[in-house]
Amino acid sequence: MSDDIAPVLDHIDTGLDTSLERLFELVRIESISTDPDYAAGCRQAAEWIKKTLDGLGFESSVRDTPGHPVVVAHYNPPNRDNALHVLFYGHYDVQPVDPLELWDSPPFEPRLVDVGGTKHIVARGACDDKGQLMTFVEACRAHLDIHESLPVRVTMVLEGEEECGSINLDPFLEANRDELSADVALICDTGMWDAKTPAITTMLRGLLGIEVIVTGPSLDLHSGIFGGAARNPIRVLNRMLSDLHDDDGRVQIPGFYDGVEELPAAVREQWDNLDFTESAFLGDVGLGVPAGEAGRSVLEQVWSRPTCEVNGIIGGYTGDGTKTVIPSRATAKISCRLVGKQDPIAIRDAFKQFIRDRLPADCKVEFIDHGAGAAIQIDVTTPYLSKAAAALKQEFDRDAVLMGCGGSIPVVESFRRILGIDSLLIGFGLNDDRVHSPNEKYNLSSFHHGIRSWARVLDALR
Ligand code: BES
Ligand code: MN
Ligand code: MN
Repeated sequence: MSDDIAPVLDHIDTGLDTSLERLFELVRIESISTDPDYAAGCRQAAEWIKKTLDGLGFESSVRDTPGHPVVVAHYNPPNRDNALHVLFYGHYDVQPVDPLELWDSPPFEPRLVDVGGTKHIVARGACDDKGQLMTFVEACRAHLDIHESLPVRVTMVLEGEEECGSINLDPFLEANRDELSADVALICDTGMWDAKTPAITTMLRGLLGIEVIVTGPSLDLHSGIFGGAARNPIRVLNRMLSDLHDDDGRVQIPGFYDGVEELPAAVREQWDNLDFTESAFLGDVGLGVPAGEAGRSVLEQVWSRPTCEVNGIIGGYTGDGTKTVIPSRATAKISCRLVGKQDPIAIRDAFKQFIRDRLPADCKVEFIDHGAGAAIQIDVTTPYLSKAAAALKQEFDRDAVLMGCGGSIPVVESFRRILGIDSLLIGFGLNDDRVHSPNEKYNLSSFHHGIRSWARVLDALR
């Protein structure tokens, strides 16, 4: 730890309220990326970030894409031509807020709520990812306020389409490869081990999305006149979906497990030694019995085993009361979390074949492809990782846990493939933050420790 860091940390502590006010400003902007009605909110969030970073002395720009803009910002420490160059990534877009009626307060009116002595910042995006990206921005601010410089060279890429698949990001990275080149990427979009224990995420599951549309009769039919004789696409779809898993929770698509590897013994041992209670993890969300592959621990089920899930089903009459109808079509939205060396494209093809093999007479099936990204394994032997882990240990007085993550952050793979750089995933979210759900929150202590942690990590990487 250099002598430079103590005054920076003090400055963060005394300025926490103003840091929070700035986060609130960003959170008030309604930047829901997946809904075209909020395009103006996405641009406004990008403009707010540009203005904020310019105010810190970054050179920043809001860059148009075919979708929502990307903010790019650069800071070169004066007289330090050989400084390490980090690329920071975050996303300013958020998930939709529905169901709105389940929120205790309006989603875009951030509030600080005291829950049994713990302060929560409550709003859509409080954690994912506005609160998290602001931990890095505020850490830069503190260094600049105290030292009029940063310990490293910083480029930031803050995108607005993460929550809808980042379809325009790869072309953007390709078109701006030289401008975005750096030594290592830093990403703040993951979680801690628990409220007191920091973590570096070293495994991320991949994600594959497909929509299946089964059509039977050419129009919705009276179920009295045609029922019994007409093929019902909801029943057809249901049967296909129920074939996806056996009674032990194993996915039945041929070849699905190709490339799935057993955990290396050392990793298994590390995970076995983590203080993790399956019943508490499930109990927090109203469940009690692990529903994944039989014979696997819950941590394996969510970190190192693949899934094939039905995220939504649409079909037939869903309004009030009854309507006696045989629908013309039924749709399911499916996503698979992938691990190891599973090939997303091969699995997509195998999934489609699995469905087609079960298509009865008089039915048609169509597919809509959504994103496809493979799983990620971070190199745990880099000096960047050990320096960051040491900095986190100083902040929390506990070793950082190297953990897996059931979620997906496709940009990690893009950074490696397009820019040739590895990522360091450090985040301060907690499992009970209700990300993507009503009443999303970020602990004030996550925000505060997050800012202090990034200040230390930047100092440690210098
Ligand atoms: N920040 C999350 C990823 C995440 C989730 C990290 C849980 C740690 C714990 C990210 O914003 C996200 O939600 N990713 C999506 C993928 C995207 C393509 C919609 C996901 O994992 O579902
Ligand atoms: Mn996120
Ligand atoms: Mn998210």
